Amino acid sequence: MTSALSSRHLIDTAALSKAEIEALLNRAEAYVQQNLSSNKKSGLLSGRTAVNLFFEKSTRTRTSFDLAAKRLGMDVINVPLEQSSLTKGETDLDTVFNIDAMHVDVFVIRHIRDGFAEQVSRQTEACIVNAGDGKHAHPTQALLDALTIRRHKGSLNNLTVALCGDVSRSRVARSNIHLLKKFGADIRVIAPDYFMSEDYAAMGVTCCADMDKGLRDADAIIMLRVQNERDLDGQPFDFIHKRDAYIASYGLSHDRLKVAKDDVIVLHPGPVNRGVEMTDALTDDRRYSVIREQVGVGVAVRMAVFDLLLSSQGA
Ligand code: NCD
Repeated sequence: MTSALSSRHLIDTAALSKAEIEALLNRAEAYVQQNLSSNKKSGLLSGRTAVNLFFEKSTRTRTSFDLAAKRLGMDVINVPLEQSSLTKGETDLDTVFNIDAMHVDVFVIRHIRDGFAEQVSRQTEACIVNAGDGKHAHPTQALLDALTIRRHKGSLNNLTVALCGDVSRSRVARSNIHLLKKFGADIRVIAPDYFMSEDYAAMGVTCCADMDKGLRDADAIIMLRVQNERDLDGQPFDFIHKRDAYIASYGLSHDRLKVAKDDVIVLHPGPVNRGVEMTDALTDDRRYSVIREQVGVGVAVRMAVFDLLLSSQGA
């Protein structure tokens, strides 16, 4: 069997073709249905081993990859890094290489440093799935965002999508832009100057500081978390003193949605800073907010990723 994907690693959406993205989303759609049935488990990848290596904290993404692997019959190891030999001075790379020597099939890696997953992928026997590296990329989040949008809009073609918030530190924004551009999206990146980054103008999107302008006629709005735990331009960033003004200018509310399309949907990768990125009323309003649907289809997307990366490789 030949693979639907040209690479045996998934590092970013930038490297996926439109056909590869469609193949992943179509396969994921089948898994959405499987995940709704009472027997969610198949033996498709039984005998294969997935290793979750999260050098940075995670709730959704790690649980989602864990469930995805188990639902395909894989063995899953969640390495407790805080109890590992990292505490004795072993490097992050040596940690990966030692587990790779145990003939595992796929690593799911989250790391604080841009480029870590790519660097590892050049030196391992196992496939690498990037579960977020620094501010660089988060391909499975972009894929699950795309599936959520496609399920609501019927197609991904030529949509108007606004990405709003702390885009400077956002790997989710970058991976979403690479993906959506392949489908002809009109993308607006909305942020105050201190959260904007020069990267975006170079990506062929409209950058804008005025939220009401950026949201006009939007089909989908992706709100992004203020990521206080990450440095901004190499420095810690004091958001506390900007918080109230930020919420007034960039907090999403029902009122602000009026300039968007009537059937606009609101996404957020989570975790949500309640009361910062958007009002609680909007976060919990299932007419617009698809945040929990994103989490739900995320498992199916990760099943599709394991399936397309691994099932065509020698048994
Ligand atoms: C995102 C991440 O870690 O990049 N969350 C996620 O994976 N669901 C976004 C964020 O941390 O704000």
